[in-house]
Amino acid sequence: MRKVEDYIRSIPDFPEPGIIFRDITTVMQDSDGFKLAIDSMEDTIKDLDFDVIAGLESRGFMFGTPIAYNMGKPFVPIRKKGKLPCETISEEYSLEYGTAEIEIHTDAIKKGQKVVIVDDLIATGGTVEAAIKLIERLGGEVVACVFLTELVDLKGRDVLEGYRVESIVKFDGK
Ligand code: PRP
Ligand code: MG
Repeated sequence: MRKVEDYIRSIPDFPEPGIIFRDITTVMQDSDGFKLAIDSMEDTIKDLDFDVIAGLESRGFMFGTPIAYNMGKPFVPIRKKGKLPCETISEEYSLEYGTAEIEIHTDAIKKGQKVVIVDDLIATGGTVEAAIKLIERLGGEVVACVFLTELVDLKGRDVLEGYRVESIVKFDGK
């Protein structure tokens, strides 16, 4: 029986020399792989009491929406700056070179709602850290952050201390 990691394609030297890119398109382009990935991510939160799934643009949408649909929960998109049409709040975060910004609609999370964040990958943790700030500014409570993959060497978990962090496939950089 194949495991989730068997469906992930590793591309050496992309986007630059020395980096191994973990390509999740090969998970989703195989119906068995896609089902296994979604089922595995759902399994980590099946006993958790929560109200909303928040997905991080863009790859987090691919996993967050099927999980929300299957579990009968609403889905809230956290988007890159300038994409959401109504009133928003935003947070900046650091990239390797420069900064980026993500936004959420101010009415997307109600005070006291329990939120599960879904993304495809945790690397440095900067993106999810900014997402947590957005949710907490709206009065939401982040009860778990669920990722398909984790680049362990980049220590994203360290910035999420105190939060429940789940990942299905862990890569240690080799
Ligand atoms: C990638 C990935 C995560 C984030 C992880 O997104 O999908 O969202 O980086 O990195 P971090 O833990 O160091 O913040 P990217 O910004 O490349 O955009 P995409 O999802 O739209 O492809
Ligand atoms: Mg992303």
